[in-house]
Amino acid sequence: MHRVHLSLYLLCIYLVPGYTVGVLPNGPCFKVGGEQWVLPRDARACMSAISFDKKKQENVLDVVTKTLAFHASTNYQLQAPKPYSEDVHWDLLKELEGMRSKDYPSDFDFHRDVQQSVKQVNDGHLMYANWCYDSVYVTYNPFPLVLLTNAVDDTQAVHIAPNAHEIALSLFGPEIKFWEDALGTRLQEFSGAQVMQIDGEDPFFAVNANAHNTGYFQGLSSRQNAFFSSVGRGLDGWNYVLGEFAEKVHPIVDSVRLTIKRVGSDIEETITVPYRSKFNRKEHFIDRSDYESKFCKPTSDTNGHHLYRLYSNDSQEQPGLQKADIRPTEIALPPSLQPALPQLEGSYKDTQFYLLKDKTGVLVLGSFEGYEEESIKCRLLQGLQNMHKLGVKNLIIDVTNNFGGFVCVAQFLHRLLFGETDLTYPQAGLDTALRASDIAQQVVKNLPGNDPDNQIIYNQEWYNATNYPIEDQDWFTPINVTINGRPDAFSQRFGKECEVSSAFCRGSKQKLSPDPLFKAENIVLLSNGRCGSSCAVFSVLLAKRHKVHTVVVGGKSNVPQQYCGFVGGQRNDSPYPEDIPPPLDVNAALTVTWRLAYGVDNPDEPEEWQDHTATMNFPLTINTANKPQAIWDAVYQRVFSKSSPVLQVQI
Ligand SMILES: *[C@@H]1O[C@H](CO)[C@@H](O)[C@H](O)[C@H]1NC(C)=O
Ligand SMILES: *[C@@H]1O[C@H](CO)[C@@H](O)[C@H](O)[C@H]1NC(C)=O
Ligand SMILES: *[C@@H]1O[C@H](CO)[C@@H](O)[C@H](O)[C@H]1NC(C)=O
Repeated sequence: MHRVHLSLYLLCIYLVPGYTVGVLPNGPCFKVGGEQWVLPRDARACMSAISFDKKKQENVLDVVTKTLAFHASTNYQLQAPKPYSEDVHWDLLKELEGMRSKDYPSDFDFHRDVQQSVKQVNDGHLMYANWCYDSVYVTYNPFPLVLLTNAVDDTQAVHIAPNAHEIALSLFGPEIKFWEDALGTRLQEFSGAQVMQIDGEDPFFAVNANAHNTGYFQGLSSRQNAFFSSVGRGLDGWNYVLGEFAEKVHPIVDSVRLTIKRVGSDIEETITVPYRSKFNRKEHFIDRSDYESKFCKPTSDTNGHHLYRLYSNDSQEQPGLQKADIRPTEIALPPSLQPALPQLEGSYKDTQFYLLKDKTGVLVLGSFEGYEEESIKCRLLQGLQNMHKLGVKNLIIDVTNNFGGFVCVAQFLHRLLFGETDLTYPQAGLDTALRASDIAQQVVKNLPGNDPDNQIIYNQEWYNATNYPIEDQDWFTPINVTINGRPDAFSQRFGKECEVSSAFCRGSKQKLSPDPLFKAENIVLLSNGRCGSSCAVFSVLLAKRHKVHTVVVGGKSNVPQQYCGFVGGQRNDSPYPEDIPPPLDVNAALTVTWRLAYGVDNPDEPEEWQDHTATMNFPLTINTANKPQAIWDAVYQRVFSKSSPVLQVQI
């Protein structure tokens, strides 16, 4: 059957004069071009039709390898210390080198190999994305999962989210018919069902397989939690995050077999749930060559910008460098799950303030970069001052799914909460050091005179480890070190980097009061463990310098829950100055962290691989899963209410 089809196809090429394979109105991309919803295998066939190209392979491997010289963690990631020794042990440079001699069936296969290898270091600052493939089609099934704990006997079980049907309807609209036809019944039949097996195995087999490949977080718990649905505070409202079981960035899975027990039933049944891929770009394509020209060519953003030429032209906005983040679909949280509390003063976009009850307030931070830096600081000042005025004594800070942002906002909030003490002034953050690779040293040597406005981050505008401005021209003299048996070099240690004593608010600069707004013992830091970068810096400062309680919700009961990951120092996009080759020939982006923060408990080693085990692994139940207000209430009951037992500590 297949062969007949193939020979007819070939015959066409010979019979139609003037046509070449590329323009023939046929082929796997022509089949899906213009379609919104397609089968994963059809989307995959189109992506796989883009041929593997030895020259592109060499280019990508050259650029990624050379850029890794700027990544501060490469040698540390060869083998992380405890508690991450099982989680981070990857020789990325060796793996990339090994790819050079390989041939791949398609360029898509090559891309996936590079991307997967980069993800194996479990570092949300080191990411590689190629917009020719990543998220061109987002691939869904209609059953986001939750890990629920039985309130009576504390047993845990995976369930289809109780609101799965509502979510599917708002996300897929009439397209849910596709799944209802495939399953032979209405989707709400399955909402809340217990999942006994996934593809014939215990569900945690699939959870852990996903955790192995998802990247981002050092700790296993935070990577396990990625599999399940969660809630995030977005700029325009509360979002439902499907989780990586129900949402995938590549069309590589066609279906999944679930063995389930529906709500109220003791009968096990096995259903096959198809995945479906949705086209996720504004502009559609016609065929393969159109696809390639629209999504796969480098753009004017790919290889950076000349900072001065750009800044000298006021009419031209600085286009943001493409980040390699692949963001999950934003789905509005159903009203029944949303907090029903009035927003207090200071609430704006993904910064929200609420009064929960009995002198307990909630600060929600969806990110540290939702809007302009100074205005976030101003909102935080207004909101927390207002709470203080209202007599709020206890504060829950919810940083669920907060992937960071402005590091100075994190430090400012640290200073604002605890007042001016040795722990918050002048250094309200963590000391850092820059990796001093040969190429970074060359960049610094070439800067004098070429960067009069200190636009490039390798300028000398740093404070030294005792928080004095650095005046030394040789500030970047490398200090040789050996990390995991490999020679490496870092800069001197840097101290404070942020102005944390004031905020620009209501048209004027406002100095912060030297007094604390809250006592550390009255603060709870809450998340699903997926708090990274500036959020991790903030959390580490609270947890380790002030002994603030850290609560992670929804994790597996026998896995220690980490309250944050990928501390880094500062992420950087595309660190090349314009004149250093080679330019990247594909529509891709790589991010690195170019400096590392030193630890609190062990100040001589990076914080990155030090322990971040939360004080409490807080179970989710059918009544609290994905309901922020219900979670705050439950945490309040457990931690703040007078009747609560002493805070339970994870073992
Ligand atoms: C400024 O940018 C505009 C729009 O891209 C361009 O037309 C103009 O030539 C630029 N001017 C200078 C001085 O670079
Ligand atoms: C920082 O600079 C000040 C002023 O130059 C100097 O006194 C101090 O020793 C320096 N600190 C470190 C750690 O080098
Ligand atoms: C540091 O290492 C580099 C390269 O291995 C070497 O050239 C340099 O002399 C070393 N510097 C010191 C102070 O040991």
